[in-house]
Amino acid sequence: MKLLVIGSGGREHALVWKLSQSRRVSKIYCLPGNAGTGLLAENADIPIRSIKKILQFVKEKKIDLTLVGPEAPLIAGLSDLFRQNKLLLVGPSKAAARLEGSKVYAKNLMRKYGIPTAKYAVFKNLYKARRFARLQTFPLVIKADGQCFGKGVAVCKSYSEASNFLEKILKKRIFGSSGSKVIIEECLSGQEVSFMAATDGFNFVTLLPCQDHKRARDGDRGPNTGGIGAYAPIPFLNKETVKMIEKTIIAPTIKAMREEGKTYQGILYPGLILTELGPYVLEYNCRFGDPETQPLMMLMKTDLMEVLLAITGKKVGSLKMEWRKGYSACVILTAKGYPGKYLTDMVVNEPKKTAENLQIFYAGAKREMEQIVTTGGRVMAVCSYALTLGSAIDKAYDSIGQKDIYFKNMQYRKDIGQKGLQKKLWENLE
Ligand code: AMP
Ligand code: GLY
Repeated sequence: MKLLVIGSGGREHALVWKLSQSRRVSKIYCLPGNAGTGLLAENADIPIRSIKKILQFVKEKKIDLTLVGPEAPLIAGLSDLFRQNKLLLVGPSKAAARLEGSKVYAKNLMRKYGIPTAKYAVFKNLYKARRFARLQTFPLVIKADGQCFGKGVAVCKSYSEASNFLEKILKKRIFGSSGSKVIIEECLSGQEVSFMAATDGFNFVTLLPCQDHKRARDGDRGPNTGGIGAYAPIPFLNKETVKMIEKTIIAPTIKAMREEGKTYQGILYPGLILTELGPYVLEYNCRFGDPETQPLMMLMKTDLMEVLLAITGKKVGSLKMEWRKGYSACVILTAKGYPGKYLTDMVVNEPKKTAENLQIFYAGAKREMEQIVTTGGRVMAVCSYALTLGSAIDKAYDSIGQKDIYFKNMQYRKDIGQKGLQKKLWENLE
C-alpha cells in the first residue's frame, strides 16, 4: 500500500520509521517531512493547511491511506474532504476535532457526560470574568478557548496575575479569535500523564501511558514548550488506574461523541492529571502526541499499519496490541533560545552507526548537501529502549555529546524520566 504521513516533526519521523517496517507498505510520502523522513519516505513540499492541494497530491500519487500528525489539517476539515472523495484517512472529522480545537466545546462535553474534569466557568466579557476570578481561591487556571500553540493557558497565583491574563485575552486579543472566550477553572494537582487510544468510533485499544516534559528547564521550571522529553510506560501508573481511565474517560468520551453525532475516528489523546480523587482530563488532543509517539514507536510490536487499517475499517474490536517488555526514554535536543526565538543553521553531528536500541528521530532539521542542518526549535529526539527505565534513560543520555550526537549550542533537559524513577510516587499511588 502507498501511504502519506502529514507533518514534519519527530512524531512523523517515528511514525514513518515504524510504518516503513510494515510488509504491507510499499511506499511512503511525507508532507512536508524533515531530514529523517527524507531517508525513509519521499518528502513533498506542500503546506499542511492547504487541504485542497493535499487532496490533489493524494489523487495524483494514488495514495491508499493518509495519516495526519498535527491537529491543524484535521481542525481545517481534511478528514471530511477525504471522506467526500472516498479516500482513507486516519483522523477525526472537523466536527469531532473540535475536542482539541475548542476547549469550551471539550469542557461542555465533559460536563454533559460526567467525564471527570476541573470545575469551570466560561466568559466572553472581561468585567464578568474578573468579578468571578476575584471571588475564587488561588491558584486558578485561565485558558483561551482556541488554538494558541501552547501559550493559551496560565496557572495564576494571584488575582492580579489572573486579571492581567484575562485582559490580554479578552481585551488586547493577543490570541485573536482563539481568545474570544475564556475558561476559568479550578487548579488541580497531581502527576500529568499522556494517554492515547486508537478508536474507530465504537471500540478502542489504548496505547502505553506516557509522561511528557513540557517545561523548558530541569525540575519542571522555565517556560512551557511543545514537549521536550518523554518516556513510556509509566511505572507508577498501575493496571487498576489504566482500567479506571478507560472506564471513566476513554469509553465515555467515545460514546459521547457518537451520541453527539460526531463519531470519533483516529487517535484520541487526553492529557490527564492523576489527582487524589482519580484521573481528570486537562485537555483533549485529536492526534498522536509529540514527543510521546517517539517512545511508543520504539515499544510497539504490533504492525502500525494494522492499527491504522483497523481504525479506518472499523475493526478495532478485534485488534490485539503487543508491546516490547521494557521502557523507552526520549530526550529532545533543542536549539539555543527555544521556546523563544532560537538559533538555526547549526550542523548536526550524527554518528555513522548508532548503538543498538537507540534511534534518532529528527524534527527541526533538513538535509543540505550531505549535511544535516537545524531549522527548528525542537531539533531531534534521542530515543532509547532498554529493559529498565533507568537503563533506557542512561542509554539515551550516554549517546549525547561532542563525540556523538551533537550540534553547537544544543540544549536539553537532564532529568527526563526522573519522575518515573521516584519510588515514593509508587508508594503514594499503589
Ligand atoms: P492544557 O493545554 O489545557 O493541557 O494546559 C496546559 C498545561 O497547563 C497542562 O499541561 C497543565 O500543566 C496546566 N493545567 C491546565 N489545566 C490545569 C488545571 N485545571 N489544574 C492544574 N494545571 C492545569
Ligand atoms: N506532547 C504534547 C502534545 O503532543 O500535545
